[in-house]
Amino acid sequence: MEKSIDELTTSELGTLEYWEKTYSLEIENFQDHSDVGEVWFGTDSSIKIVKFISTRLSLSKESDRIIDVGCGNGMTLVDFAKAGYENLIGVDYSQKAIDLARKVVNEEGFPTIKLQVHDIIAPVNVCEDHEFQFKLAHDKGTYDAISLHPHDPGDKRKRYIRNVHKILSDGGFFALTSCNWTKDELIEHFKDYFQLVHELPSKTFSFGGQTGNKITQLIFVKK
Ligand SMILES: C[S@@+](CC[C@H](N)C(=O)[O-])C[C@H]1O[C@@H](n2cnc3c(N)ncnc32)[C@H](O)[C@@H]1O
Repeated sequence: MEKSIDELTTSELGTLEYWEKTYSLEIENFQDHSDVGEVWFGTDSSIKIVKFISTRLSLSKESDRIIDVGCGNGMTLVDFAKAGYENLIGVDYSQKAIDLARKVVNEEGFPTIKLQVHDIIAPVNVCEDHEFQFKLAHDKGTYDAISLHPHDPGDKRKRYIRNVHKILSDGGFFALTSCNWTKDELIEHFKDYFQLVHELPSKTFSFGGQTGNKITQLIFVKK
């Protein structure tokens, strides 16, 4: 029997307005003193997952296409590029995030990284858009943000899961970093579409003056 899922307490972090406001400020900070802004879940969380992908998953750095879903300031894409990945695209539903990411990736010396405004829960038709097919989808904090949406977060999470599944090619991987859901909860949410292949050792990070927040980093393969 399908287990019912307790949704999270909703928050403004689930809204586009919040992210547009946040990235507008971060653009100003970046222009004033080259500060890339909030690094979600600490500086080494994306480096760790990129290192795992680079050493343990057999992806071609030249040809396999990688998407960062909800790329924010683009710093995870920079980590992928530094590890030698060449076929990178970042999408975010906030135009301001994409504007900031463009500045950051150019400044870091990776102007060929593609960036596009795209809402991951909007309908996708991959048959019509062959460009929108990937070997690996990466998400750090975006599924978490969607789970906090004030209106019907359960439906939005399900649309997210179906869309990420759709945009991956057969045998494609999905790398997820979350601080709002546990490993067991994520396995349950994704079980119809993805199989867990690896869990990175969990770590803690500090946020908003609070220490001891725990993150879960999982690698799934498309079913
Ligand atoms: C916690 S931030 C993480 C940003 C980035 N991944 C990082 O690690 O710095 C969540 C991001 O998800 C984006 N986002 C939220 N809902 C989205 C959606 N439906 N489609 C695309 N991006 C979304 C937000 O704009 C924000 O950039």
